[in-house]
Amino acid sequence: MHLTEAEWLAGIQFLTATGEITDDKRQEFVLLSDTLGLSMLVIAQNNRKPPGATEATVFGPYRVANPPECESGADIANGAVGQPCYVAVQIRGLRGEPVPHAAVEIWQADADGLYDVQYAGNTDMRARATMRADAQGRVAFKTVLPEAYPIPADGPVGRMLAASGRDVWRPAHIHFMIDAPGYEPLVTHLFRHTDQYLETDVVFGVRSSLVTQWHRHEPGATPDGRASAIPFYTLDHVFVLNDAPA
Ligand code: BEZ
Ligand code: FE
Repeated sequence: MHLTEAEWLAGIQFLTATGEITDDKRQEFVLLSDTLGLSMLVIAQNNRKPPGATEATVFGPYRVANPPECESGADIANGAVGQPCYVAVQIRGLRGEPVPHAAVEIWQADADGLYDVQYAGNTDMRARATMRADAQGRVAFKTVLPEAYPIPADGPVGRMLAASGRDVWRPAHIHFMIDAPGYEPLVTHLFRHTDQYLETDVVFGVRSSLVTQWHRHEPGATPDGRASAIPFYTLDHVFVLNDAPA
């Protein structure tokens, strides 16, 4: 068995097309790495964590620098569409200690599976924020329930996925980037446990430890001491940071 000349040419044409569609907004080579599982392999090899530490996963293309700085407890939706969702997280270290004043950055898609940057003409930052944990390492925010979304599939990566019979979906998630002195920075997601794409995530980013219970509530009292006239969701989670390398 060897590569035929036609196969060689198809490979060259694929890589050429990948380069041609790449610009300052779209990085098709990174998407190719993500969808081949290479990004997740590199993350796993460079983020070996001791038992109990929260696992890292892919960064993705939708983080925006300098998101709004919000107080803990804030509503970060800022016009993003979706059912209300109240998230409360705590940051701890490997010995169970709270990590005080950790910097926590959050970004996510909305009910339509779209990030703010995917809406043509929109310049508002929606469903993204940076927050500071309190002295006990706690951060809470109100947002909208994220939904699953397809990755950009109108280019060579989409053709590769179609040719190999793979789907193009990522299961619903919220991105977190957490940083605190003395600890290893963590880039990860929390996934919704009911999502239909957990087993087939197109970028291989799911870790079972990151699949979390999101509880649906009937209208009534909400965790921020108010009330919701419509059903809402809650998510509570403890992140465990690894120690910074000595
Ligand atoms: C994301 O989760 O935002 C993402 C990750 C990899 C490829 C596309 C999207
Ligand atoms: Fe994402």
